[in-house]
Amino acid sequence: MEINFNINGKTAKVDVDPAMPLLWVVRDELNLKATKFGCGAALCGACTLHIDGEAYRSCSIPVSFAAGKKVTTLEGLSESEDKLHPIQQAWMEENVPQCGYCQPGFMMAAANFLEKNPNPTEEDIKNNITNICRCGTQPRIIKAIKRAAQLSQTVTA
Ligand code: FES
Ligand code: FES
Repeated sequence: MEINFNINGKTAKVDVDPAMPLLWVVRDELNLKATKFGCGAALCGACTLHIDGEAYRSCSIPVSFAAGKKVTTLEGLSESEDKLHPIQQAWMEENVPQCGYCQPGFMMAAANFLEKNPNPTEEDIKNNITNICRCGTQPRIIKAIKRAAQLSQTVTA
């Protein structure tokens, strides 16, 4: 079945089983590899992307759900190649990644979280960012989300 949606500002047209997880369409049909497979069961968050401005775990969302909608992956998070999103800037400044595998999902979850909670406490972050990192980078992730909140306020001030 042909399904159309927008991905990172471009039109995507795919001919796949409508029940196919969006994650596999993004990675294998559209060749956007930032979004990762971890658990395949909506538990770890490695596959997090945005659909119409909301964070979703794409391993557990059928591609049919994205039809006619706007999908954003880490590749499309920043406005342009020369302008990093505050989350990307903060991730670099805090040297967050270790192996890096889980990080795209964390960054997409964090970007969406910050849009709704521009000035979060550590408790807010712990309660809302439920992705899993096997390398134990969570303390740096918390610092980076706080830094990104400050950067966003500087940008919008
Ligand atoms: S791979 Fe989707 S939540 Fe783990
Ligand atoms: S940085 Fe290795 S799993 Fe998170």
